[in-house]
Amino acid sequence: MQYYIKTFGCQMNVYDSGRIANILQSLGYKEAERIEEADLVIFNTCHIREKAAEKVFSDLGRLNLIREERENQDKKTIIGVVGCVVQAEDEQIWKRAPFVDFALGPLTYHRLPEILAKIKRKQGDFVIDTEFPVEAKFDYLPENTSTTSCSYLAIQEGCDNFCTYCVVPYTRGAEYSRPVEDVLKEAQRLIDSGSIEINLLGQNVNSYHGEDKNGKERGLDYLLRKLAEFDKLKRIRYTTSYPADMSDEIIACHKDLDKLMPYLHLPVQSGSDKILKSMNRRHTSGDYLKIVEKLHKANPNLRMSSDFIVGFPGETDEDFKATLNIVNQVKYIQAFSFKYSRRPGTPAALMPNQVEEKIKKERLEILQNLLFNYQNQFNQSCIGKTMPVLFESQGRHKGQLIGRTPYMQNLHASIPAGQLNKIVNVKITAATTNSLSGKMEGA
Ligand code: SAH
Ligand code: SF4
Ligand code: F3S
Repeated sequence: MQYYIKTFGCQMNVYDSGRIANILQSLGYKEAERIEEADLVIFNTCHIREKAAEKVFSDLGRLNLIREERENQDKKTIIGVVGCVVQAEDEQIWKRAPFVDFALGPLTYHRLPEILAKIKRKQGDFVIDTEFPVEAKFDYLPENTSTTSCSYLAIQEGCDNFCTYCVVPYTRGAEYSRPVEDVLKEAQRLIDSGSIEINLLGQNVNSYHGEDKNGKERGLDYLLRKLAEFDKLKRIRYTTSYPADMSDEIIACHKDLDKLMPYLHLPVQSGSDKILKSMNRRHTSGDYLKIVEKLHKANPNLRMSSDFIVGFPGETDEDFKATLNIVNQVKYIQAFSFKYSRRPGTPAALMPNQVEEKIKKERLEILQNLLFNYQNQFNQSCIGKTMPVLFESQGRHKGQLIGRTPYMQNLHASIPAGQLNKIVNVKITAATTNSLSGKMEGA
């Protein structure tokens, strides 16, 4: 039996898909190279914006054609949908895509073995499980057998912040932190199988508050310091952080821990205090700038990235200018920016003064131009410098490897294949807005 998993959405989904693969491998499934060859296809879905959710359904339509084609060859295909769309749409999934065999929410995918057994027993029936279970799925998953040099490790899931535009508190449920020992055990396993970089994940990773073995609550700073003690681990990152939870203890880690990369994704969303309030973000633009200042004081080499939403209900030209203003102050080296998308069931969807699509589009273009400018400026400023690069994959051209700098910039270089999965000093020779290229030092 072969499986194929297609992942939509955020890094948490990428991590979850890896864990789903662990489950399937423990049941004897092998990974299919092509979707057409798979006996079991799973879509791990995202509900964050309308476009993301609609893409799932159009791709499901295409998958159905593959399923029919295989059926003509007498091959059965089991189709499963998991992740945030399932949690949000529930039985609607089955109404819109009746050929789907099962659907599991983001917190119930550890029940996959039972579900698959159920499907095999009573063929033809749709099985769905969107409970927010009392048990933590992490306790029921087989070992994380990832063997990449750069790994994700989920330490926290869910969100209690309820930003008025966002579906995550409804799709991922209440905030949950994994116990310290579980996290360290998984880190040890990842490092033993070759990870030299670990990126700690959570929807609000910096509000982590897991229990240690004595039952004492520990923050993210404690985990970062513990991880830094692993000899073979060379790089640590964490994402995504919520500004109001950026404690002085975490900021101090950026001063003390060389392994903690000098790059932080800290979404601000908007520069206007009126909009931030209406978004129910627990920070003003002033609070945010103060945190950035503290971070720079802790590590002057640290650079920032962010998420932005334009065209939130009630956003005026003045509010939008405040967003441009904060970009000019922080000079982000990377960013994601989106037009506000009205999500059913969220408070902002019902707010008056929804912004016209045409204005959203104009504002997004202006913002993205400004962001690209700073990103490009930073990349250009790297030319001539030497940076440690972790080479993670083969490039498109022969003899080329692709890696990442401490600042998450993509870098390609002509370099011996033996340097794959290693950190190599590279002199930067050229830069575009999206990537760098360079030469191995000494080569
Ligand atoms: N937990 C993280 C990220 C959540 S989702 C955080 O709080 O920062 C990732 C990004 O998607 C958000 O930062 C936000 O910029 C964007 N986003 C979320 N809901 C959205 C919506 N309804 N419309 C447009 N963008 C949205
Ligand atoms: Fe969504 Fe806000 Fe929670 Fe981030 S903090 S996941 S944007 S509700
Ligand atoms: Fe999308 Fe769910 Fe992540 S809605 S962004 S996959 S938490």
